[in-house]
Amino acid sequence: MTRQILVTSALPYANGPIHIGHLVEYVQTDIWVRFQKLRGNRCIYICADDTHGTAIMIRAKKEGRSEEELIAAMSEEHQRDFAGFGVQFDHYGSTNSEENREVCTDFWKALRAAGLVVERSIEQLYDPEAETFLADRFVRGTCPHCKLENQAGDNCDNGHTYSPTELIDPKSTLSGATPILKDALHLFVQLEQLHEFLAQWVDQSGALQPETANYLKGQFLSDELRDWDISRPAPYFGFEIPDSPGNYWYVWFDAPIGYIASTKQWCDIHDEELSDWWQNKDCEVHHFIGKDITYFHTLFWPGMLQTAGYSLPTKVHIHGFLTVGGGLKMSKSVGTLISAETYLKYADPSFLRYFYATKLSPRVEDIDLGLEEFVEKVNSDLVGKVVNLASRVGKFASTTGLSPQYPDDGGLFAAGAAKGDEIAEAYESCDYARAMRLIMELADAANPFVEHAKPWEMKKDAERQDELRDVCTVALNLFRQLAIYLAPVLPKLADDCGKLLGDPIKSWDQSQTPIVGQPVNKFQRMMNRVQLEDLEKMIEDGKTESDAEEVVADAGAQYNDSDQPLKDEPLADEITIDDFAKVDLRVARVISAEHVPDANKLLKLTLSLGGSERRQVFAGIKAAYEPESLVGRLVVMVANLQPRKMRFGLSEGMVTASGPGGADVFILGVDEGAQPGQRVH
Ligand code: MSP
Repeated sequence: MTRQILVTSALPYANGPIHIGHLVEYVQTDIWVRFQKLRGNRCIYICADDTHGTAIMIRAKKEGRSEEELIAAMSEEHQRDFAGFGVQFDHYGSTNSEENREVCTDFWKALRAAGLVVERSIEQLYDPEAETFLADRFVRGTCPHCKLENQAGDNCDNGHTYSPTELIDPKSTLSGATPILKDALHLFVQLEQLHEFLAQWVDQSGALQPETANYLKGQFLSDELRDWDISRPAPYFGFEIPDSPGNYWYVWFDAPIGYIASTKQWCDIHDEELSDWWQNKDCEVHHFIGKDITYFHTLFWPGMLQTAGYSLPTKVHIHGFLTVGGGLKMSKSVGTLISAETYLKYADPSFLRYFYATKLSPRVEDIDLGLEEFVEKVNSDLVGKVVNLASRVGKFASTTGLSPQYPDDGGLFAAGAAKGDEIAEAYESCDYARAMRLIMELADAANPFVEHAKPWEMKKDAERQDELRDVCTVALNLFRQLAIYLAPVLPKLADDCGKLLGDPIKSWDQSQTPIVGQPVNKFQRMMNRVQLEDLEKMIEDGKTESDAEEVVADAGAQYNDSDQPLKDEPLADEITIDDFAKVDLRVARVISAEHVPDANKLLKLTLSLGGSERRQVFAGIKAAYEPESLVGRLVVMVANLQPRKMRFGLSEGMVTASGPGGADVFILGVDEGAQPGQRVH
C-alpha cells in the first residue's frame, strides 16, 4: 500500500553557514526521503530557515542591514549549500513568513483557549545601552562563589552554577555596559497541565527511540514540568504576540510551527490541502533532529500539536553529533569545523553522503569522521568495488550492447535481488550502516565474476565476442542492481547508471529484473579516487574561515536560548606594565593529575617547582586533556597567585593555557631542558 509521508529536518539557524556537522542531519533525512520515493510512497520533504531571535537582530545591526536582508542572503546561501550536497527539499521556506504568523496565531489561540497560558513579571538583567534584555549568555562577570573573574552568566570555569543576577560586577557582552535589573512581563505555557498526556505519549506512542523515551522519563517526566517562558519583550526580531503588545513569541515557539507553515506554502503551490498532511491520521509525520534539540521536539512540540489539533509525530528520529578525528568536538581553530562550501572545493559530495551512510544507525550515537577512514571507505568501497564493476566492462559494452537474454551468472543477480527486502528494511529503520554493509557484500560477490572472466582478453579474440557481450551484460546488471540499492545515498551515481544503460532509475523494483537486448551508451568516468592530501588541504582551509559558527553541543539543555553565542567580549580594565610584572610565572612539572569527582570542568594537578616545593592546582582543562597525558609534562604556572579555597580543596596557583574554551584549550609548554622553578619571562 502506498504510504503518505511528511518528512522534516530541523530548521537551520539563519545566522550561520551550513557546516559538515549539520549535513549529518540533512543527508540522513534526504536519504530516507529518496528511499521512500524510490519505494513508490507519496513523500514530501519540508524545511525552512529559522530566522528569528536576538542573534539575528544583533548581527543585522552590526552589519548595517535589515534583518530581512540578512535572512534573505542566508537563505540563498543555505539552499545553495544543500543543493551542492544533493539534499533535495520539496519546499524550503522561512519562519519569517505570513503563513507562519497565521499558523502561530492559531496555535496561540488554542493554547489560550485551553487555559495553558499564564503571565507573570520576572526580574531580568537589562542592557541600558543596547536597550535590550539580556539572555544568560550575554552577561559575564565575577563568580559569586569563587570570585573567578570574567565568567559566563550561568556557570563558572570552576563548576559553580548561579543565576546571572547573582554575578558580581556583571557586564553586557553586547555593549560592555553594566546591566541593570528590570521587571518585564513574560508569558508562560503551563506544560505541567499536559503532563499526563506527554507521559503517555512518550511511553506508548512508539514515536521515540528507547534511549530518548528513557531520558525524558528520567530527566523530566519524573518531576513536575516547569512553565515554559514563551515570550520575549521588545526589541526582538520575531512576531509580536497579537494579544500582548510589546511582547514577541520566543523563537522556539514559532520555529517548529514553521514546519507546518512551510508545508502550507508547498500546499498552496501544489493545490493541496494542509489538513490532508497535518490533520490526517493516514499521513505519517517524521521529524529528523539532532540530540541537542530533543526536549523541544519531544515535550513542547507534541504538547503544542495536541492542544492545537494537529497530527503528533509518527516518529522523531534523533541522531548524535559529528566529531572529527577521534571523538573530538569540531573546532574552528583546529580546522575541523568545515563549512559545506569549503568541503565542496576539495571533495566530491557523494563521498560525504556515503561516509555518513556507513556510520548512521537508528541509535542516538555521535559519529566520528576520521580522514584515513574516509579515504579508505570511499576508495575501497565506492571506487574499488562499485564503480569498478562498470568501469572494467564499460568501454567494451558500448560496442557489444547487452545480450538478448540474461546469461548464466552463477546466481549472482538472483541472490542480489533476494537481498532487496533486507536492505529496504535497513533503510526504513534508518540503519544505513547495515544497508551499506549488505550492499558491499553484494559488491564483494560480484567483482570476482569479472576478474575471472577477464573481458579484456576476450576483447582481443574475434571468436569470443558473444562471450564478451555476456560478461558485459552480467557486470553491468550487477552494477545497476547496486546503483539502485545505493540510489538514496548516491543519486548522482544512479543517474549516471541510468544514462549509461538508457534506462533511468526510478523505482526500487527495478533491482529485481535485469535489463537485456539494448545498446549501451559511451562509458563516462563516474568517480575519481579521493586523495588524503586534498582533505588535508581542506582542513588547512577550514582553519582560516572566519565566519563559521562554533558548534555548541548541549544535549538536552532545558531552556536552551536558541541564539548562537556572540564572540565579542568587552575589554577588561587597563593595567600597567608594573601590574603585569607582578605575575610570577614559573616552570613546573606535573607530578600527578586526576579527575575531580563532581566537577564538570576541573582536573586536580600536583605541580613540582623544584626541590620539595609542591603546589596543588585545580585547572579547568578536563574537556581538553586526559589526566594521564599530563603527568611528567612541564607547564608554566602563575606561582604567586593567592591560594583560593574551592569546593574541592585549596588551589595554590594557576596553570597557563590559552584557547577559546572547552576542548580547545592548550596548555602553554616550555622546552624540556627547562628546570622546574625557573622563572619564565
Ligand atoms: N534552529 C534550530 C532548530 C529549530 S527546528 C524547529 C537549530 N538550528 S541549528 O542550525 O543549530 O541546527 C540544525 C540541526 O543541525 C539540528 O538538528 C542540530 O542538532 C544539527 N546539528 C548542528 N550541528 C551538528 C553537529 N555537529 N553534528 C550533527 N548535527 C548537528 O537547532
